[in-house]
Amino acid sequence: MQEWIYYDSKTGNVDRFVHKLAEATGWHITKIDEHTKAMHPGHLITFTTGFGQVPPKTDAFMSNNADYVQTVSVSGNRNWGANFGKAGDTLADRYCLPLLMKFELSGNGREVQEMINKINEYHHDYETMDIAQ
Ligand SMILES: Cc1cc2nc3c(=O)[nH]c(=O)nc-3n(C[C@H](O)[C@H](O)[C@H](O)COP(=O)(O)O)c2cc1C
Repeated sequence: MQEWIYYDSKTGNVDRFVHKLAEATGWHITKIDEHTKAMHPGHLITFTTGFGQVPPKTDAFMSNNADYVQTVSVSGNRNWGANFGKAGDTLADRYCLPLLMKFELSGNGREVQEMINKINEYHHDYETMDIAQ
């Protein structure tokens, strides 16, 4: 199934992660900024900045496009302790979205595969729920 990935990246880690994801799956990837208009339902992958803050471009993108976003995932660094990947928790709470994954920096092959599995599972669960209702 074709998927759309919306992502934010400042220093290139999320960029590297989503390119590995796209190489493995052929999914569409779009780097967001404050002007991005989502045209398809998709999955957000962002990072954490400041002291556990949501990056400003992600914030603006979500203000304008949250209805198109199905899940959230986040990159961070465990050196930040309790603030590890906190932007993901904040966005998931604020927009009532599932937080699929937190990963460190640009992730590894196992995490790329985990993301693929979780996105596929999300659709499987969602479709099953739809049929059941
Ligand atoms: C100024 C600054 C603040 C950061 N704050 C946090 C933080 O609070 N929590 C966290 O998990 N990671 C934090 N990080 C780590 C980044 O989220 C991590 O390096 C991420 O992979 C960056 O993604 P990008 O390279 O795609 O921009 C911070 C990094 C920088 C440079």
